[in-house]
Amino acid sequence: MNLVASEKVKRMSASIFQEIANRKQEAIKDGKDVIDLSVGSPDFPPPSFVVETLSDYAKDPSKYGYTLKGIPEFNEAVGFFYKQRYAVELKPSSEVLQLMGSQDGLAHLATALINPGDYVLVPDPGYPIYEASVNIAGGVIYPMPLLAENKFQPELDAIPLEVLHKTKMMIISYPGNPVTALADKSFFEKVVEFAKLHEILVVHDFAYSELIFDGNPQISFLSVPGAKEVGIEFNSLSKTFNMAGCRIGYVVGNEQAIDILASFKSHIDYGVFYPIQMAAVMALTSDFSFLQTQVNEYEIRRDALISGLEKSGWQVTKSPATMFVWARIPSGWNSREFAFELIDQAGVAVIPGDAFGDLGEGYVRIAMVQPPDRLSLAAERIHEFLMGYSLKK
Ligand SMILES: Cc1ncc(COP(=O)(O)O)c(C=O)c1O
Repeated sequence: MNLVASEKVKRMSASIFQEIANRKQEAIKDGKDVIDLSVGSPDFPPPSFVVETLSDYAKDPSKYGYTLKGIPEFNEAVGFFYKQRYAVELKPSSEVLQLMGSQDGLAHLATALINPGDYVLVPDPGYPIYEASVNIAGGVIYPMPLLAENKFQPELDAIPLEVLHKTKMMIISYPGNPVTALADKSFFEKVVEFAKLHEILVVHDFAYSELIFDGNPQISFLSVPGAKEVGIEFNSLSKTFNMAGCRIGYVVGNEQAIDILASFKSHIDYGVFYPIQMAAVMALTSDFSFLQTQVNEYEIRRDALISGLEKSGWQVTKSPATMFVWARIPSGWNSREFAFELIDQAGVAVIPGDAFGDLGEGYVRIAMVQPPDRLSLAAERIHEFLMGYSLKK
């Protein structure tokens, strides 16, 4: 039997991540020390009380059943967290839905809401599941260019009316991945007005809500008046509390959208392991001192990496947020060539920008998932690589 993937699966653009992983493995097999800055999986541990809670509950054999939509304590804890951190009031029973990581919700939302032919506005560059989820649903993607000259914000007024008539949903993310830019309240206010006018559901991905640097404010989309009428927000414990492997996240906001997603998900999964939910409750209701320490650590990493790269003459924008640097590559390269050569010659693995959309070409995404000394070493190796290249030219 010769099995071939469906057209929908073939259209998904994940293979570059696999190619980078393979190339990295080959380099390691050849005896190279590779500094892996490719995947955005946090290397920091979760707070110790999270690990203790998880292991305590895991010893109780009565906690191994299905949990379906999750325990009410989790929804209450999300409500507490949103009030404390973003001054947003939520009704825990109807405005919060637990997810197996925000990816679970992002992947399934379009299928729950979009009919074939419905348009979805998707950022380019953007996190790959946005586009993939619309493809799975049979929707039509309308890319919203995120350009440096527009502060990486979409030009809403430039979207044709005939597109807006067919548009059911738009996806935005501030700070996002790979584009780390922040948005201010006035941008979100404009989005709410636009969404009301054109009857579009706004989906804000806020997975990096707690990795915001230099004292910049953490602005939830839902903190803008009227946002809950038109929008939902995805969030997660993966990056905030380093619980990426636990697979727990949530979506908050518009009750109707949440109800539809919950009903679809009830056919797909049967809930998150109870001990993980309790560990998440502990994290979301903790005193949050952990979060400040973590932001400081990421800032130190970012500064080590950026100052190292600047020494090599590579001017890279200082990320205001997230665990990534979105770096415009030196001229004369395309993203893939640059990323592959960087592994082979410098032993540094990054993701080529075109993995995130056509407008990612000319960039690479560097994940700050190594300690500052490794990031400085990566910058030194990149320096030597760029010097060697310019000598060859
Ligand atoms: C922007 C963004 N959204 C969502 C996710 C999914 O995270 P999780 O499913 O672990 O909550 C990620 C993971 O890297 C991400 O970068």
